[in-house]
Amino acid sequence: MTKNISLTRYLVEQQRSEGHIPSQLRLLLEVVARACKSISQAVNKGDLGEVMGSAESENIQGEMQKKLDIIANEVLIEANEWGGHLAAMASEEMEGIYVVPNRYPQGEYLLLFDPLDGSSNIEVNVSIGTIFSVLLKPEGAGVSEQDFLQAGAKQVAAGYCVYGPQTTLVLTVGDGVAMFTLDREQGSFILTKENIKVPEDTIEFAINMSNMRHWDAPVKRYVDECLQGTDGPRAKDFNMRWIASMVGDVHRILTRGGVFMYPWDKREPNKPGKLRLMYEANPMSWLIEQAGGAATNGKERILDIAPSKLHERVSVILGSKNEVERITRYHHEA
Ligand code: AHG
Ligand code: MN
Ligand code: MN
Repeated sequence: MTKNISLTRYLVEQQRSEGHIPSQLRLLLEVVARACKSISQAVNKGDLGEVMGSAESENIQGEMQKKLDIIANEVLIEANEWGGHLAAMASEEMEGIYVVPNRYPQGEYLLLFDPLDGSSNIEVNVSIGTIFSVLLKPEGAGVSEQDFLQAGAKQVAAGYCVYGPQTTLVLTVGDGVAMFTLDREQGSFILTKENIKVPEDTIEFAINMSNMRHWDAPVKRYVDECLQGTDGPRAKDFNMRWIASMVGDVHRILTRGGVFMYPWDKREPNKPGKLRLMYEANPMSWLIEQAGGAATNGKERILDIAPSKLHERVSVILGSKNEVERITRYHHEA
């Protein structure tokens, strides 16, 4: 990549020629990118900063919070509350929505995020990230939690930033998927890949195998067939990866294909799954679809699910189209 197109220039050009990005949305995406740069700095400090370890508190989902979960959440809120582009924010780490305070102008967008994805990987120095999703606030005065409960198909922008060996921002505004690498000397995100395509076929799957005994029959069937390799009905050998950071797994799939599953399982039968629809499944599903892949909960397209609550969980199967269609078919056949 020699053209040295910054995120700013990419967004301006998208706004000018493609008409995808109104100026308020452009500002929003720039601000989110700036917040991600700042989170990347904090992550990079590791044991040299006050950023590692547990915060000794629980979030609304009953999960222990790490210091970085809270730091990342604060960075995103502070960066986004004053610009006039947002009406409110919602986060995996906050119980209710965060309405932009009265002292700032209110904009027409809603921002949702998983401030720090892959918290269990912080101390072990494995890739983690920030996932975000942008919706338009429905018309009408004020803003409420109800305004956020829109299907993923309504997103106007979505993306994530992965803090790994490189810091990479991945974005869609509904016109394909672009990747930007953080140039630390320049302090800006530079376009490094465009028109990302997820191969339709793959021989790589990602699932936490330790949950195997709790899975539903269609998931068991699919993984069993993969494991049988050349001796089984698929007649080819499969490879397996599980990073335990969805951002890392999705980034691999956008880079070279594959299928990712965090399905419903019998451990907590009343929960539809582990991952969160609004902060994880929706933005990642849209990115994957924009790159030619597919995303379902086993039965239906994730982006078509009408959310009933902010912290709703969902079963997730996404990645290379033909594999996702196969797993979805196994669910319908069961
Ligand atoms: P978070 O750190 O935001 O809570 O998300 C972790 C998620 C996801 O990133 C990952 O795919 C999955 O949880 C890992 O779960 P297991 O530890 O059950 O494998
Ligand atoms: Mn997460
Ligand atoms: Mn998180």
